[in-house]
Amino acid sequence: MTAPMITGWGKCLPPAVLSNADLERLTDTSDAWISTRTGIKGRRISHAETSDLAAVAGRHALAAAGLSPAEIDLVIVATCTPDRLVPSAAALVQAKVGAVRAAALDLNAACSGFLYGLVVADQMVRTGSMRRVLVIGAEKLHFFLDFTDRATSVLFGDGAGAVVVEPSEEEGGLLSFELGTDGTAADILCIAGSGTEGAPAAERRPRVEMEGPTVFRRAVEAMGEASARVLEKAGLTVADVDLLIPHQANRRIVEATARRLGLDEGKVMVNLEAYGNTSAASIPIALAEALEAGRVGAGARLLFAAFGGGLTWAAAVYRWGARVAPLEVSEAALPPTSRSGRDLLEPNVVFYGKGG
Ligand code: UT7
Repeated sequence: MTAPMITGWGKCLPPAVLSNADLERLTDTSDAWISTRTGIKGRRISHAETSDLAAVAGRHALAAAGLSPAEIDLVIVATCTPDRLVPSAAALVQAKVGAVRAAALDLNAACSGFLYGLVVADQMVRTGSMRRVLVIGAEKLHFFLDFTDRATSVLFGDGAGAVVVEPSEEEGGLLSFELGTDGTAADILCIAGSGTEGAPAAERRPRVEMEGPTVFRRAVEAMGEASARVLEKAGLTVADVDLLIPHQANRRIVEATARRLGLDEGKVMVNLEAYGNTSAASIPIALAEALEAGRVGAGARLLFAAFGGGLTWAAAVYRWGARVAPLEVSEAALPPTSRSGRDLLEPNVVFYGKGG
């Protein structure tokens, strides 16, 4: 049996930046607090929809794999911020990239969604039921942020990342994985009132709500423990890990997870200072940037770990193949905009009011 491998990768970051200084003017916060408590300096605010971000990232991943869109059998979009409930964001992406033969589905496991999607793709390809799968993590989270709530609004950002999974003659791919959920803790991180349960309290627009310190503690525990178990399942130790690519929620969470594992700081991919927490998009964006920066070598052993609303968590050990450069490069890009991050927040500010 040939191993399913990632053969293409790509990302899409919308151009408009919202800085910590911009947030100081919206809510009762400071650059000093955000920088020291989270490591985040800026985040992107999208003028386009989730499916647009996803389609651009997907096109880059297809080019990197040297594939045409018609060669894709399945499009998975991991997201908790789809353009609409029906049709799925994946159906919109299927049309936007021209993956005319592909089935399409959304997968919502919040910030763990990309790893859930990667595992689904791997298993589909492994059984032979699908040959080529495009897995995308994409979010337009700012839509659900109340910028008067300093506990949540400073953390999140928009973006997308994508990979192509297909059979390969190489040794490697996904060596082990763990997917977990604790639905009893659903309310500690949620977008209440965003579905059939109706309007949230006080007729507010659905917004991200979070018990930050509880989520923090559970994130470190779950990512640390799941990572240790997947390493053991793969017959490896922490010393074998070349790079940890964790969900980019908070620098302190990432550092605490690495410390718990006993992993060197230099073996951890962190890019959250530029993008904040992009939920399902954070790991594929970090993977694409790790490849661009030459931090993933041929045969590298990668450890992925994620945690998010649900509560969900996921970890995986992945052995990279021989090729670390894209086969082709795509010109795909979002339509241009001259609007600033602050301009793009106006609908949120009109709705919730301006705090601070
Ligand atoms: O993707 C997975 C989902 N999300 C996460 O993983 C996030 C997990 N949680 C966290 O990252 C952290 O808990 C936060 C960054 C959300 C909060 O950091 P913390 O160190 O846990 O702070 P805290 O909530 O314990 O708050 C400490 C203080 C409080 O003030 P008092 O009560 O000590 O006077 C907060 O009101 O910091 C205050 N605070 C802020 N101050 C300025 C909370 N948010 C802010 C803010 N700016 N943005």
